[in-house]
Amino acid sequence: MRIVVMVSGSGTNLQSIMDAVAEGTLNTEILAVGADKPCTGIERAEKAGIETFIVPPADFESRPEWNRALEEKIASYSPDYVIFAGFMRIVDAQLVDRFANRIINTHPALLPSFPGAHGVRDALAHGVKITGLTVHFVDSGVDTGPILAQAAVPVLDDDTEETLHERIKVEERQLLVQTIANLPVPTV
Ligand code: GRF
Repeated sequence: MRIVVMVSGSGTNLQSIMDAVAEGTLNTEILAVGADKPCTGIERAEKAGIETFIVPPADFESRPEWNRALEEKIASYSPDYVIFAGFMRIVDAQLVDRFANRIINTHPALLPSFPGAHGVRDALAHGVKITGLTVHFVDSGVDTGPILAQAAVPVLDDDTEETLHERIKVEERQLLVQTIANLPVPTV
């Protein structure tokens, strides 16, 4: 299976995918790693000798133009799947349709609770005792697509957003790799 991975941040989820590929536990080819800005995730990919690209929204006059540029860039690799591994941008319905049921996102909360950019902070603020993470297909909503896998993580009394997110990410790295490994090869 061939994938493009999109990142925006530290890229530890990307690293777990790259490690699993290198170890031979994930039978996947990473065609390229893309981002919306320079970030550690891109550096990790470069270090691993993987092709990278950056499509910054600021380079475009409008959101649709940015979406079309990103869509064409991703499409140029003809990936089976596109993995949003900490990619902190919302893409439009046209981009989602282009890769229908082939974009996978990981979100650090148990959806449908706490969607959006601050899933960990919002769960903590709500006072939930169990949160976790969700790996799901991307549809045209924000964190609303069909759920592929979830794992629960208990909230500890002294948790901060950082400590809780770090424990979620330990589970997230494993579940994301496992979920990619279980994806069927698309027929189109
Ligand atoms: C992950 O928890 C992801 O779910 C969230 O941002 C984090 C990215 O971490 N949206 P990393 O860049 O993979 O280290």
